[in-house]
Amino acid sequence: MQSNEIRSAFIDFFEKRGHQFIPSSPVVPIADKTLLFANAGMNQFKPIFLGDETPDHPRAVNTQKCIRVSGKHNDLDVVGMDGFHHTFFEMLGNWSFGDYYKPDAIAWAWELLTEVWGLDKDRLWATVYTDDDEAFKLWPDVTDISKDRVLKFGEKYNFWEMGETGPCGPCSEIHYYIGDDPKNQSAKGVNSSDDYWELWNLVFIQSNRNADGKLKDLSQKHVDTGAGLERIVSVMQNKSSNYETDLFSPIIQSIEKITGINAKDNPSPFHVISDHIRMLCFSIADGALPSNGGRGYVLRRLLRRASRFGRMLDQREPFMFELVDTVGQIMGDVFPEVVEKSAHIKKVVQAEESMFNDTLDRGLVHFDKSLDASSGKTIPGKDAFKLYDTYGFPLDLTMLMARERGYSVDEKGFETEMAAQKKRAKASGKFTADSGSLDWVNLSKGKDSKFLGYETMESESKVRRFASSKDSIHLVLDKTPFYAESGGQIGDKGTINGKGITLKVENTVKDGKSHIHICSGKWSESALKSVLSSSVDGPRRQNIRKNHTATHLLNSALKVVLGEHCQQAGSLVHPDYLRFD
Ligand code: ALA
Repeated sequence: MQSNEIRSAFIDFFEKRGHQFIPSSPVVPIADKTLLFANAGMNQFKPIFLGDETPDHPRAVNTQKCIRVSGKHNDLDVVGMDGFHHTFFEMLGNWSFGDYYKPDAIAWAWELLTEVWGLDKDRLWATVYTDDDEAFKLWPDVTDISKDRVLKFGEKYNFWEMGETGPCGPCSEIHYYIGDDPKNQSAKGVNSSDDYWELWNLVFIQSNRNADGKLKDLSQKHVDTGAGLERIVSVMQNKSSNYETDLFSPIIQSIEKITGINAKDNPSPFHVISDHIRMLCFSIADGALPSNGGRGYVLRRLLRRASRFGRMLDQREPFMFELVDTVGQIMGDVFPEVVEKSAHIKKVVQAEESMFNDTLDRGLVHFDKSLDASSGKTIPGKDAFKLYDTYGFPLDLTMLMARERGYSVDEKGFETEMAAQKKRAKASGKFTADSGSLDWVNLSKGKDSKFLGYETMESESKVRRFASSKDSIHLVLDKTPFYAESGGQIGDKGTINGKGITLKVENTVKDGKSHIHICSGKWSESALKSVLSSSVDGPRRQNIRKNHTATHLLNSALKVVLGEHCQQAGSLVHPDYLRFD
């Protein structure tokens, strides 16, 4: 059976049992701030599980685009090292929202695997949560699994949670022995040997993990299941690695064509690149972009890892963007966005590849030198940091390369270098505030920094506290018309005057909610105790406002002209110009 048929068979099976098909949500979550990427089919149903939304239908089925490279579920380290973990994968799932529970969930999963798809019962194992006697008894009751193939495990394997907080519950997993020697199977291999693959996880959602770490019972009990499509396809197509299935082999063939190298000669780079390009295609199609922080840095890290594996295949020019069409050919029927947005995806991938290509070779030379220079088998933090800061090597790439050569990286040393660099960057900005390192003197009590700047450019203000340094004095006022630098918009300049006080405000920055006015000029501590007149440079502010408006107009025009996939990644709003990322 082809992967497309297997996916459809899953959906048909549950549609026939009263489930409504719900399309995959984007991999970039729209409303959930607890996740960088969709990591499970249930993410989009979280509000239903929590009782905040009522479902249209009590049963659902879907195939969800998932990414597991950050947070609680992170498989990055093993991707490419084994044949069955991926950064991006499809999760087939069926759901009951307060409707059926354990007996049907178990019976249907078994029926689909063994009767519809004909998997060998003597290779299948079921696991249940150690306290879940109900599920333990149900397995041999509602299926024909042999009793000795039902095993109990603790929280690590059989209590599923989507993240640090959120819906969760005990789960029952179905594992499949993919090894060559079925007679030598043993319960000991389950959850420990790579010959036993977890195919399907049936979660019995009954609690919510709150921010304080405590579990709270939900008002209803739900079923949330997830089966990895790539693994099921592999088992159904009789392969021992997902990379040999029709979901990956066309990508691998494309890489062979581009590089002229046979994948059999050195499979790892082929696996990593084919895995990572799928993740990049789907995350970019859903609106993510490579960048230096947060979600965007995950994309950049993956792309740089893949580029480095490309070097192992002698690729010196961008080449991964050429794989985008192949991903579209394999999956475009089900996820048309990878085809519709292919021109955009290619552009982004190619631009990132060329950017990293510029420093990759020099970085590789530095990496080799740091191996030679390291005493023992640990790469010093300062070398890992130089690779990061000068050559753009994400720390996890350096760690992966180190592991390949039997080395480790001094991660603590790396963090120390990173902290020192942040400090240097702050100190080098003359009119930026590092309020933590200043000695503040309090002059009056009460709330500070009430912002008046949307209504007026001037105010009478009292100084709440001040701190002086060699070049400047920092003031925090009770109320202020000065806008403090944030969200890409530059801070206001102007004057603060009073009896014995003539100050130029060189910059206004934020420290938490406080606006810090960084000033130069004439002042004395006693004079700061009287009421001062603050006045923003009006024409300058007016220009900033115009550029702020222009940024919104540009953002909206880009969406109209190029399409909704345009995402603003950042901006700088200045009186003389604007920069739009
Ligand atoms: N939500 C469950 C999982 O991701 C099914 O494994």
